Amino acid sequence: MAGRTRTAKLSLCLIVLVTGFDRALSSSAAQRCFCQVTGSLEDCACDVETIDSFNNKQLFPKLQKLIATDYFRFYKVNLNKPCPFWTDNSHCGLRDCAVEPCTPNEVPDGIRASSSKPIQDPLEASEDSEECEKAEQLGAVNSSLSEDRQKALQDWNRYDDEEDRFCMVDDEESPDIEYVDLLLNPERFTGYKGPEAWQIWNSIYEENCFKPYTVSRPLNPLVTYSGENEGRGFYNWLEGLCVEKRAFYRLVSGLHSSINIHLSARYLLEDSWSGPKWGHNISEFQQRFDEKLTKGEGPKRLRNLYFLYLIELRALAKVLPFFQLPSVQLYTGQPEQDQQNKELLLELLQVAKSFPLHFDETSLFAGNKKEAGKLKEDFKLTFKNISRIMDCVGCFKCRLWGKLQTQGLGTALKILFSERQIASLPRPQGELLPFQLSRQEIVALFNAFGRISTSVRELENFRSLLSKLHDEM
Ligand SMILES: Cc1cc2nc3c(=O)[nH]c(=O)nc-3n(C[C@H](O)[C@H](O)[C@H](O)COP(=O)(O)OP(=O)(O)OC[C@H]3O[C@@H](n4cnc5c(N)ncnc54)[C@H](O)[C@@H]3O)c2cc1C
Ligand SMILES: *[C@@H]1O[C@H](CO)[C@@H](O)[C@H](O)[C@H]1NC(C)=O
Ligand SMILES: *[C@@H]1O[C@H](CO)[C@@H](O)[C@H](O)[C@H]1NC(C)=O
Ligand SMILES: *[C@@H]1O[C@H](CO)[C@@H](O)[C@H](O)[C@H]1NC(C)=O
Repeated sequence: MAGRTRTAKLSLCLIVLVTGFDRALSSSAAQRCFCQVTGSLEDCACDVETIDSFNNKQLFPKLQKLIATDYFRFYKVNLNKPCPFWTDNSHCGLRDCAVEPCTPNEVPDGIRASSSKPIQDPLEASEDSEECEKAEQLGAVNSSLSEDRQKALQDWNRYDDEEDRFCMVDDEESPDIEYVDLLLNPERFTGYKGPEAWQIWNSIYEENCFKPYTVSRPLNPLVTYSGENEGRGFYNWLEGLCVEKRAFYRLVSGLHSSINIHLSARYLLEDSWSGPKWGHNISEFQQRFDEKLTKGEGPKRLRNLYFLYLIELRALAKVLPFFQLPSVQLYTGQPEQDQQNKELLLELLQVAKSFPLHFDETSLFAGNKKEAGKLKEDFKLTFKNISRIMDCVGCFKCRLWGKLQTQGLGTALKILFSERQIASLPRPQGELLPFQLSRQEIVALFNAFGRISTSVRELENFRSLLSKLHDEM
């Protein structure tokens, strides 16, 4: 009985969480919930604490172990694709969602100027060449692989699938494509910032017409954006025309939060002769997420991170039947290791499935069949666009992780949209599988979720650092 009450309470909290309907909670409680700057978690601790403890205790350790294995640490990516939007004026990437392409004059000077520069150097415009050099260094990708490894990877290629892709996948035949060892290139502070980085985020939000509602192009639409579904109830919101598009916005925002948590948690604290020292920079974190310092935006952004977490977790739970197929191998050419990896992966998916409060995505992705089909197409296109925008990210390491996470999220959505096909697995022998994932998609899916899961874990670290700081004062 007590259990049932708890579940009911938790689901309510979850609804509040996934819909972003703030009024159900007093705003201060809601905000304390996500970023405990002061005070305790008290009344609405339920939802976030459930996710936190589920993630931090059960899922995170397994996932970390899995993505450190050979199968998962090598990601195939083309980091040398030219930016399709800002290189010439015929592809104006900066217009509103209007149909008319804009003339060169409409492109802000800064962007036009930067498009003629080599993309490797995000800070070239800055006077401070020392800082510029440093950012370049921090943002570099170490693509070194041993010869043995390279041979093995060529072998893996034979096993890659080429099916129904959700995302813009890099042309695998391109000579520029390479494998990158993700463990050698952790996502962390790179110093990539300023107008260029801002422009990327802005394009991702703006370009794709997927904002909750259109603001008439203020100087910084992201800052002025606020008050999602103000004065409207949960059900109104669901019935609204653009539920999915709002959801989309929240996913992107969650990704944005995750990236910014990582750079705050693995900040370059010191760079001395004994080598760089990476660690938590509390003030950086506060600048980005503290309720007061962000005028209330920070907690919303963190809530979006949890939303993203739930969506990707849901996808993992749903994709279990696919990975249970004996024909699905995590091939690296070391049968014993491959088998162990597969067992570990299935264990992880079972854990994901055991999460008691799964987000009910049917309202989001099922709809009536025609609508759902249209929506799936929309999402697909938008994801393609975001993948392409990632080719405009000037810092290579950011580009690497940006691409990976976009593809991972795209794969999660592909799974959620393919529920029926996955449920129809396994098929009689010889019949074509109605659902497929390529190696690249698998690697991206788990590593992307690894990033989000790590962010949730890092929030706990920040909470405890902040409370220590608080105690000392
Ligand atoms: C694809 C990509 C990958 C990146 N990877 C890295 C990396 O690995 N390491 C690194 O050090 N830097 C990385 N960056 C840069 C980093 O994300 C910031 O852009 C940079 O640190 C500058 O931060 P900022 O405070 O100016 O605001 P930004 O984070 O650039 O945000 C721009 C504006 O968006 C709004 N905003 C901020 N967060 C959110 C959110 N969660 N939801 C909605 N709106 C929001 C705010 O109004 C803010 O002013 C990456 C950038 C991009 C585009
Ligand atoms: C890349 O990583 C390898 C292996 O850790 C290391 O030996 C090499 O020095 C690194 N290269 C650069 C440019 O950092
Ligand atoms: C993607 O970008 C293209 C070209 O910039 C544009 O025509 C299209 O409408 C965009 N698609 C979506 C879904 O935003
Ligand atoms: C932490 O980040 C802030 C910017 O938010 C910066 O001014 C400060 O120097 C950083 N602290 C350390 C120890 O690097």
